[in-house]
Amino acid sequence: MPLELAGMEKDIDLNKIVRQHIEMERFFTGFALKGRSETLETQNQEDIMAVAEKNAELEKIAGQVNQCRKCELGSLRTNTVPGEGNPNARIMFVGEAPGADEDAQGRPFVGRAGQLLGKIIEACGLKRSDVFIGNILKCRPPENRDPRPDEIISCLPYLQKQIEIIDPEIIVALGAHAARTLLNTTKPIGQLRGQFHEYYAGIGRPPVKLMATYHTAYLLRNYSQENRRKVWEDMKKVLAELDLPIP
Ligand code: URA
Repeated sequence: MPLELAGMEKDIDLNKIVRQHIEMERFFTGFALKGRSETLETQNQEDIMAVAEKNAELEKIAGQVNQCRKCELGSLRTNTVPGEGNPNARIMFVGEAPGADEDAQGRPFVGRAGQLLGKIIEACGLKRSDVFIGNILKCRPPENRDPRPDEIISCLPYLQKQIEIIDPEIIVALGAHAARTLLNTTKPIGQLRGQFHEYYAGIGRPPVKLMATYHTAYLLRNYSQENRRKVWEDMKKVLAELDLPIP
């Protein structure tokens, strides 16, 4: 074969190889991208379905709470306050019981203590809709008296079920009643706050980290620099544990 022709053939071969290579690249890249977007789509659909299922389960509990007459508070309430928020929340705040504003509106933490809780949530760089907010009791005790043991025993299963459904990474117990009830202890809130404890969500389920801190109603009554600093310290620990930025 003449030398020039042999060279041409080499050129042709090279072009063919480069073209084939580009085609192969395109084919596999397209394949990989298509595969990835299908996986993402499936994942998104699964997430949407999981949230819808959680929402439906939470609605079911709210329905049971609305029908509940297990204690005398059932006949005294204006509205039940089952709790509200993100069914996929990483943080769940748990207070004591609804007050007058909550009883009137059927929503948790909407009065003055609730507005302060809202400010704390915002100071954490979050929105109310990012978290779930609930209470130990779902009905208002008259004159905002402390919850009674029989009321707590009757009402606690609703909250336990909500925790099970939401499966938060951290529970923030606001005040002595929430912290003591969820940790099954009688220790004072001053001793419980500031450190992580474990809430036992049931046999076979991993414990949920629980941070106890002062109730916002207590904070309003004792609005000192020192108390506010303590609550903020507790919340910073929560954010750090969740790898969230501390504003
Ligand atoms: N205090 C609570 O403990 N819960 C509320 O929902 C409002 C005030």
